[in-house]
Amino acid sequence: MAAVAGVALCGALAACGSGGSASGDDDAITMGFSQVGAESGWRTANTKSIREAAKAAGIELKFSDAQQKQENQIKAIRSFIQQRVDVIAFSPVVETGWDNVLLEAKRANIPVILTDRAIDSDDESLYETFLGSDFVEEGRKAGEWLVEDSKGEGTVNVVELQGTTGSAPALDRQEGFQEAISGSDIKIIASQTGDFTRSGGKQVMEAFLKSHSDIDVVYAHNDDMGLGAIEAIEAAGKKPGEDIKIITVDAVKDGMQALADGKINFIVECNPLLGDQLMDLVQKVVAGEQVPKRVVVEETTFTQEEAKKVLPERQY
Ligand code: AHR
Repeated sequence: MAAVAGVALCGALAACGSGGSASGDDDAITMGFSQVGAESGWRTANTKSIREAAKAAGIELKFSDAQQKQENQIKAIRSFIQQRVDVIAFSPVVETGWDNVLLEAKRANIPVILTDRAIDSDDESLYETFLGSDFVEEGRKAGEWLVEDSKGEGTVNVVELQGTTGSAPALDRQEGFQEAISGSDIKIIASQTGDFTRSGGKQVMEAFLKSHSDIDVVYAHNDDMGLGAIEAIEAAGKKPGEDIKIITVDAVKDGMQALADGKINFIVECNPLLGDQLMDLVQKVVAGEQVPKRVVVEETTFTQEEAKKVLPERQY
C-alpha cells in the first residue's frame, strides 16, 4: 500500500495497522483492475498495455478478468475493497448498475478510475476521472464517411452489428452513426448485437444474409465483428468490400490487414494503448493531486490506402 493512500485508508478502516500493505512493499501503489474480458483483439492489446505500463511504473497490479459479466466485475471490486488496494480502476462492461459498489469503495476511501468505458450515474463523485475514447465521435466518423462515399447512389441499406448490449461503446457508436446519416438516403435495415466477438459477428451476419437480399453496407461496432461478417459474406458467395461494403471501429492489426486487402472499406480508430496514461492518473490520484474529470484519447481514421502505408509499423 502506498504511503499517501495508506493515511487516507487508515482513517477509514479500524483494521489498518502497520501490516496494512496489500503489496508487501509499503512504497508501491497497489491497483485493483477489473477488465471486461478477452472478447476482441482490442481488448487483448488493452490488457497488454495496462500490464506493461503497471510494471514499468512500479505499480503492483491485481488483475481480474470479468469474462464480459457485470456480476464478476462487482465481485472483483468488492474483493479489491476487502484487500484495501490503494486505487481501483475498471472498464465497465455495461453502463448502468454501479452506484452501490462504487459507494462501497467511496466509503472505504478507495479512489476509483474509469478506463475505456463510462458509467451512467447521476453521482460523479463515485469516480475520480474517466480515461477513454469519445465513442459518439467514433460513430459519427463512420457515418460521415458513408454519407460522403455513397453520395448520388440513392438508397443505401445498412445492417448494424452492435457491440455488447448496454455497453457505452455500443450505445454511443450507434448514436453517433445515426446522427451522421440522418437526412441522407442511408437506412439501417437491421441491427443486432454480436457482443464484440468474431463468432458473434459471423453468426448475426449469417442471419442477416438469410433474411435480407438487399444489404449494401455492414457497420460493425468493432473489427472483430466485421471480420466475422467477412467470413459469413464469403461463405454466402459474395465479395466483402465490393458486393457489400464494410465499416468497422478499432483498427487492430487483423482489421487493418483486411482493410489493406480491400475486404473492409473504412476503419475508425479506437486506441487501446491506455496503459501509460492510466498509470500517470493512478499516481496523481493516489498522491491526492487534482486530475481532469475526463481525459479523451486522440484517434484517427483509416482508408484502404492509408492502411497499406501504416500496417508494417502497426503495434497491435
Ligand atoms: O470498449 C472498447 C471496445 O470494446 C472495443 O471497440 C471493442 O473491440 C472492445 O471489445
